[in-house]
Amino acid sequence: MKDIGVFGATGSIGASTLQVVREQPDEFRVVVLTAHSRQQKLAELIQEFKPSLAVIEEKPAEELVHIAKRHGCDLLEGRKALLDAAEYHMDIAMHALVGSAGLELALRLARKPMRLCLANKESIVCGGHLLKAAASLSGCQVMPVDSEHNAVYQLLEGRGLEDVARITITASGGPFRELPLDAFASITPEQAVKHPNWSMGAKISVDSATMMNKGLELIEAAYFFPVDQNQLQAVIHPQSIIHGLIELVDGSCLAHLSETNMQVPIRHALSPGKRLAGGQNLLDLMRVGQLELYPVEEERYPCFSLARQALAHAGGAPNILNAANEVAVGYFLAGKIGFLDIPKLVAKALGAAELAQWVASEAGTVEEVLELDATTRGLVQFWVKED
Ligand SMILES: NC(=O)c1ccc[n+]([C@@H]2O[C@H](COP(=O)([O-])OP(=O)(O)OC[C@H]3O[C@@H](n4cnc5c(N)ncnc54)[C@H](OP(=O)(O)O)[C@@H]3O)[C@@H](O)[C@H]2O)c1
Repeated sequence: MKDIGVFGATGSIGASTLQVVREQPDEFRVVVLTAHSRQQKLAELIQEFKPSLAVIEEKPAEELVHIAKRHGCDLLEGRKALLDAAEYHMDIAMHALVGSAGLELALRLARKPMRLCLANKESIVCGGHLLKAAASLSGCQVMPVDSEHNAVYQLLEGRGLEDVARITITASGGPFRELPLDAFASITPEQAVKHPNWSMGAKISVDSATMMNKGLELIEAAYFFPVDQNQLQAVIHPQSIIHGLIELVDGSCLAHLSETNMQVPIRHALSPGKRLAGGQNLLDLMRVGQLELYPVEEERYPCFSLARQALAHAGGAPNILNAANEVAVGYFLAGKIGFLDIPKLVAKALGAAELAQWVASEAGTVEEVLELDATTRGLVQFWVKED
């Protein structure tokens, strides 16, 4: 029986993780659950899983306090309590917060010799080098949860990177893969969050529509699979059935396929050594019928090109890219800017004179990473308010 903490339990990945746990009562015991604001949802989860500790960042309502007490669960509030929850004894942590707000938690978890299932790709983009250093000191096993990286991880199991000629991650292309380019200016948040294949949180859904998500994932791939950047590519695959491919130096090409269900990579990330049964829907390739692959159209997806440039540039560029994108997506979802303003703001941030010193070199400490993140956010907020 493994003790598991689910950070960001009330979100989409949190829900998929808890579904896997539900199916495996002999494998996992939930000891920690955290949420940001969804009190009612957290209360339901406490009643069902009875963790020893629950954390909510916002002030808890009386009903939540009462339910936690009734189920013998310590309920703590605030950011510090969230970070301190990393110290609780766990064999496995699922880190499913959204955004660079997850970086400090990722670093705290990586300092412990356990399995860290990392869905929060933004913490890799912003502080991958810090994460790697912390995990190698502690012996923490960092597992990719993103379906593409988890797929490549599985394909590489028992194989050296010297045998690998190229690594490919796939992208669905999002809801606007076929939309005429002159219609992009009028895309609404409601249209952008309707992903054709996956049901996900709002921020990652917009990132999928702009393909910033795939750009962030290329940076994530460079973290997990340290090959030359020219050996990493993304291709459009509208069916989202093939998640990753590796081409080997002998000309073989291996692919990982599954239904579009995040429980598949989560099962593997939670238990890489032992295959957990539970897939209700085995992949029905006859039903899928067709598997298409296309190159990424750069004009349609400028965010993807910006992310690729940030990866090539390195230094503080990935941090600026991520922070500017998070702020821009927040404004877009709030109806304050248009869809096409997202890449414009990200490009402006990457070229801003105010950030030039940061672009040149990598933020070496967590304090510097947080300062760069805050400076970029402040600048983008200023530009939007000024307009
Ligand atoms: N969804 C997917 O299919 C998918 C696939 C691959 C990777 N990912 C990655 O997984 C991460 C989570 O995505 P998601 O779609 O599950 O997001 P989501 O549905 O928006 O859930 C985010 C979770 O984090 C909590 N949270 C939000 N802001 C927070 C903050 N500032 N501090 C602490 N907790 C906070 C939320 O709490 P409340 O709900 O209480 O507000 C919620 O529990 C993202 O990095 C995403 O890129 C997601």
